[in-house]
Amino acid sequence: MSKKNLKDIPRIKLGHFPTPIEHLKNISEYLGGPQIYIKRDDCTGLATGGNKVRKLEFLMADAVNQKAELVVTIGAVQSNHARQTAAAATLLGIKCLIILEHRIDSPPEEYLNSGNVFLDRVFEAQIEHCPKDRDVKEYAAERVEEIKKEGTNVYFIPGGGSNKIGALGYVECINEIIHDPQGIQFDHIIHGTGSSGTQAGLLAGRKYFNYNVPITGISVRFKKDIQEEKVFTEAKSTCEFLGCDVLDRSEVVAFDDYVGPGYGLPTDAMIEATKLLAKKEAILLDPVYSGKGFAGFMDLISKNYFKKTDKVLFIHTGGAVSLFAYEWAFKGKLVS
Ligand SMILES: Cc1ncc(COP(=O)(O)O)c(C=O)c1O
Repeated sequence: MSKKNLKDIPRIKLGHFPTPIEHLKNISEYLGGPQIYIKRDDCTGLATGGNKVRKLEFLMADAVNQKAELVVTIGAVQSNHARQTAAAATLLGIKCLIILEHRIDSPPEEYLNSGNVFLDRVFEAQIEHCPKDRDVKEYAAERVEEIKKEGTNVYFIPGGGSNKIGALGYVECINEIIHDPQGIQFDHIIHGTGSSGTQAGLLAGRKYFNYNVPITGISVRFKKDIQEEKVFTEAKSTCEFLGCDVLDRSEVVAFDDYVGPGYGLPTDAMIEATKLLAKKEAILLDPVYSGKGFAGFMDLISKNYFKKTDKVLFIHTGGAVSLFAYEWAFKGKLVS
């Protein structure tokens, strides 16, 4: 199969691209190296931004081409993906149904109603809750079939917008990094990894554009081998879809040491990382993804995973909206 041109794949403009790459001078100085840069995918525009906007530019174009009347997606209660999907859908005049999965036992009231869930409601998405004893993917598949039987044309977007179409958004991100006007030669890229599409897209983009910079994921949910396999499977199918060389399994690296007690549960390292980036650079991370991602990055620096002279790009995947749903986690840990 010949290599597809990314520009020929249907895409709808939803966000502010390219996102800026900034030098984190204060933190780089404070740590004494490496030189840390940040790609501001928290500033992708739509509905306070985040990494899903890139994916949704391709996914929503596919939905529109298929004449979807309703977009259905799934996510955790504080899903940033759900919020961005609700925003994209309302913008395009498509209805949106979000099926929320309860991954945290007995969460505080803010977790259930503030942050992303609050914005889902502002965007008038319909919200359903997956029963506790059900697998959310199976439950959503059943709901989609029921709704289709009623005569509605449904487009289903998997959790995190992670499939070979959504991942194209992060193939495009590599294109942006290569063509950034500052022309910085990075030695490493690092970011938080969850449903896998971001890292899969970056790794597929690395192959597609022949950009040989290592990319490390910090897992926020699954063990290393499971996460790496998820990323590999999706990156492989994205490469096959694009008709470029397929990556080797050894190119996928994810660490699982920073998840803490579980997905969406705060860790001290996440709180420290969030406070550090806020204090030194006035940039907000989020408690579930970018906060744990940055905490992992800080720990790897302390273990000399990078050379002091390296230029390392942290991809800020967004999510700060959920800080409001996690105020309780910071109790007693902020200056009063
Ligand atoms: C803020 C934020 N960062 C990172 C991720 C992880 O990206 P991915 O699901 O593509 O692995 C997510 C996913 O939901 C997210 O919302």
